[in-house]
Amino acid sequence: MKTLFINIKGLLQVRDAKTTMLKGSEMRILPRLEDAFLLVEDGIITDFGEMRYVNTDAAQKVVDLEGSYVLPTWIDSHTHLVYAGNREQEFVDRINGLTYAEIAQKGGGILNSAQRLQQTSEETLYRESEKRLQQVIAQGTGAIEIKSGYGLTMEAELKMLRVIKRLKEHYPITVKATFLGAHAVPAEYKENREGYMDLVIDEILPAVAKEGLAEYIDIFCEEGYFTVHDMERLLVAAKAYGLIPKVHVNQFHIIGGVPAAVKHGALSVDHLEVIENEDIEALKQSNTMPVALPLCSFFISIPYTPARKLIDAGLPLALATDYNPGTAPSGNMNLAVATACIKMKMTPEEAINAATVNAAYAMGLSATHGSITKGKKANFMVTKEVPSYAYLPYDFGNNNIDAVYLNGEPFKMS
Ligand code: NIG
Ligand code: FE
Repeated sequence: MKTLFINIKGLLQVRDAKTTMLKGSEMRILPRLEDAFLLVEDGIITDFGEMRYVNTDAAQKVVDLEGSYVLPTWIDSHTHLVYAGNREQEFVDRINGLTYAEIAQKGGGILNSAQRLQQTSEETLYRESEKRLQQVIAQGTGAIEIKSGYGLTMEAELKMLRVIKRLKEHYPITVKATFLGAHAVPAEYKENREGYMDLVIDEILPAVAKEGLAEYIDIFCEEGYFTVHDMERLLVAAKAYGLIPKVHVNQFHIIGGVPAAVKHGALSVDHLEVIENEDIEALKQSNTMPVALPLCSFFISIPYTPARKLIDAGLPLALATDYNPGTAPSGNMNLAVATACIKMKMTPEEAINAATVNAAYAMGLSATHGSITKGKKANFMVTKEVPSYAYLPYDFGNNNIDAVYLNGEPFKMS
């Protein structure tokens, strides 16, 4: 089946297949065609160009997109979309003056979500999660990474990862799963963190690998959670199973997570709200993608990842939502892009590059996603009639997406 999309006001992020990572000043450029067409064949982009070169005979179906911009779908490379219940009481507690750390010390935070998840059936967890997945697709996300980490027992971690697998099988969006068993130390192991690490490494990790439930490995490397030593142990063990690191580092404190993750070949290092020069130097010598999560900074009022410092040092940067019940209860990539522009002083071009090309790199999807490229998946979104693409982050909080196409087919919420 060949479908031809015509009269596109601006076809954004038009790239050749060689572009996989945009660094420093490269991020300022957003290649585009004005008054363009796009040809899709069996779910793959096979051609595009200016309207004056269009051949309408080539298609079985023609869709007129007059006045709209077309851009590749967002790639959300860091989420915790599978969770049970919500944490609005903690939100109120924070308004009343408690910090994220104080709430966690009282048994809230990740352990609160873990308790709820352990008590929730796999079926209910799937139903709650698929609603969120449908919503983020409608908001323009065409590939998503989802972590475990609210299970913290063998049974509950596997339950989460099976739910992720089921979502992957039932929805046209590309899904990648990450094993985050080392997300927080369960109360039973409060005085025995090493013992919990043994459980994660010696028992849960092999079970996850045996069922082929994850491609990536993650750990919350942070004061009060896990040390750099724990991270190194885990990454070495996970490597034996072929799991690639994508890790939580430098959210609240700098404890050496970035250089250690780089040393172990991390695909991405995520959060980086706090960062020092040694981290920047380590990243410069690496192929690791730094990932910023502006909705987390927004929601829990912590510093934003210093995007200007990273980009101006010549580094790449990706954006993701961190969708989770504690620090970012929104998976809206449009809002993440707008927040990056407003609060992190990224230009619209930089933010769009960070949420597409660089984000695809951060989840190992450069060959198939992240740009309008011949041979890549026909995953793209069509805007409403808007005056320019900079209008998208400018008009923050409003929905300017008219349609989302995955594998060349329009997505409809059920
Ligand atoms: O990325 N920092 C660790 N994990 C999540 C928050 C988890 C939670 O509070 O439930 C994050 O912000
Ligand atoms: Fe996270």
